[in-house]
Amino acid sequence: MIKEKVNIAVFISGRGTNLKALILRSNKKTCNYKIAYVISNKKNAAGLKIAKKNKIITKVISQSFLKIEQKKLAKILINKNIKFICLAGFMKILSPYFLNFFKNKIINIHPSLLPKYKGLNTHKRALEAKEKFSGCTIHYVSKKLDSGKIIAKKKVKIFKKDTLKKLEKRVLKEENKLYPLVLEKLVRS
Ligand code: GRF
Repeated sequence: MIKEKVNIAVFISGRGTNLKALILRSNKKTCNYKIAYVISNKKNAAGLKIAKKNKIITKVISQSFLKIEQKKLAKILINKNIKFICLAGFMKILSPYFLNFFKNKIINIHPSLLPKYKGLNTHKRALEAKEKFSGCTIHYVSKKLDSGKIIAKKKVKIFKKDTLKKLEKRVLKEENKLYPLVLEKLVRS
């Protein structure tokens, strides 16, 4: 059993399957982290409901997220002793100013085998390029979109008859498995 779990914040914008996977894992006695804060830039993000159901503090940030608000949030998270920030479908680019508060402490999950297919519509582009494999990548967040140091990847096969939906579902299933495992490892190291 872990005596003191490390505090984690998760940033979301939408449905929150990765958030849920992180929470489910954190509820295990043997897990070394706890989701202490969930931040969303969308007030209607379904993931917020998941957080509330699990009695996790939530906060909605403004669309503009100006420097003053960034500083305020950074201070809150530092005071809460947040050791890592996990971006999980967070559709907003964090400024270098905010990143500076958490050097090497912000990670993201991306639905492609980086460095291939940075940005949006990764599955569509992988299918159109007739790739044999796709997958997901967990990486540190840097100033450049989807370009920080890679921590872990999971390959997923693309089948000839794959549709966008099928591929997205197959990759998401792996994302949901990979993120909690990688976070536990990071916390341990
Ligand atoms: C995931 O595919 C993640 O890789 C990408 O956005 C999606 C978020 O899904 N960055 P969810 O909100 O965690 O279900």
